[in-house]
Amino acid sequence: MNIVLVGMQWGDEGKGKIIDVLSEKADYVVRYQGGNNAGHTVVVGEKEYIFHLIPSGILHPGKICCIGNGVVIDPEVLKKELQELEKNGIDFKNRFKISTLAHLIMPYHKNLDQLRETKRKNKIGTTGRGIGPCYADKINRCGIRMVDLLNPRIFSEKLKDNLKEKNEIFKKVYAHPGFNFQKIYRQYLEYGKLFKNYICNTALLLNGTDSKESDILLEGAQGTFLDIDFGTYPFVTSSSATSGGACIGTGIPPVRIDKVIGVCKAYTTRVGEGPFPTEFGEDFGKFMRDKGNEFGATTGRPRRCGWFDAVIARESVMLNGISELAITKMDILDGLEKVKICVAYKYKGKLIKNFPHDFEMLNKAKPVYKEMAGWPNQGDKVITFNQLHPNARAYLAELQKLLKAKITMVSIGSSRKSTIFI
Ligand code: IMP
Repeated sequence: MNIVLVGMQWGDEGKGKIIDVLSEKADYVVRYQGGNNAGHTVVVGEKEYIFHLIPSGILHPGKICCIGNGVVIDPEVLKKELQELEKNGIDFKNRFKISTLAHLIMPYHKNLDQLRETKRKNKIGTTGRGIGPCYADKINRCGIRMVDLLNPRIFSEKLKDNLKEKNEIFKKVYAHPGFNFQKIYRQYLEYGKLFKNYICNTALLLNGTDSKESDILLEGAQGTFLDIDFGTYPFVTSSSATSGGACIGTGIPPVRIDKVIGVCKAYTTRVGEGPFPTEFGEDFGKFMRDKGNEFGATTGRPRRCGWFDAVIARESVMLNGISELAITKMDILDGLEKVKICVAYKYKGKLIKNFPHDFEMLNKAKPVYKEMAGWPNQGDKVITFNQLHPNARAYLAELQKLLKAKITMVSIGSSRKSTIFI
């Protein structure tokens, strides 16, 4: 069974934990888009691991973990993650693979990302990791790929070509001194040596006889509303975070995808700028942010928090072809007197049931809420669905009804064992 796992909101849905749980049943775990703008946190016993690039499936012995062609890689970040695995005694040498076709984040991408952001009138609030400029070069056909690091002549040519144009831009537009060829050339060839044993044609691997008889888990980063096409553009990331991106970003054809599982928080969060109709007011927002420890795993930025938005979640179900739902951080809603679900928006007196594409409408839309009774703190004794408080079960039943997809997992804590399977 080949499963795609996607975030249904604006990222940070707690996909890392669900991926970790599902990895147990998979033979291959593959990342298909994004870069180190993402951060998956997995708690194993006392130890917390944060992954930005390597699939968290690597924590499960024997699983083959791939970084697909759709991912953009900052080699320094990858190097550090591999060192961290080594330090913790996790054996990955024969089961970690990087696509030859994955694009590299270059030093100039990171600077450009940050410089552009400071110049923008309407800031996006990017992670500043060079993601947008790297994908822009990919589409502009001047990107540098993993495979190029294995061929110094080609790498040199491409880097020279890039620096010729980019240094001009840096100097003239941004009053920046530009970049030195030799320094980047040497540093990146070192990365090439370090990664050489892992770089391969992952599409070939994932379509080979062995993998055709295996179970593949394709993990999305970010979330549906950060998708370059379907998200709240321009406040989005630069890749296809929706399930369609899984095929493009791995070379696994659409006919081989068996199921799409959507992950959403029991409420909503987003980092960075952009519309967020169900955002809490300042005080309650701060209260929930602290309660849910809503700070970015990558940048540490405080996340904006709000009620569950069924309008966007329904759109997510449609766009991704989601048949099963994993609801995360349900425990963070414990102890509230009332909980709310946004079932539609109101704009200029009209009821809007579908996600609006008009930016002004989305920005000014007022949420229409269904209010439900809250439930007390449930502690960590709950291990089955029936042990959940009846009001918590009613909340989940309402989500299921609104989204027309089956809830199969509910997470009520950060550890592996705090997951209810339905
Ligand atoms: P970029 O991906 O760094 O270009 O940032 C674009 C937007 O996506 C910003 O609003 C970021 O905060 C947001 N973003 C990127 N990656 C993540 C993520 O993994 N979780 C949540 N937000 C993200």
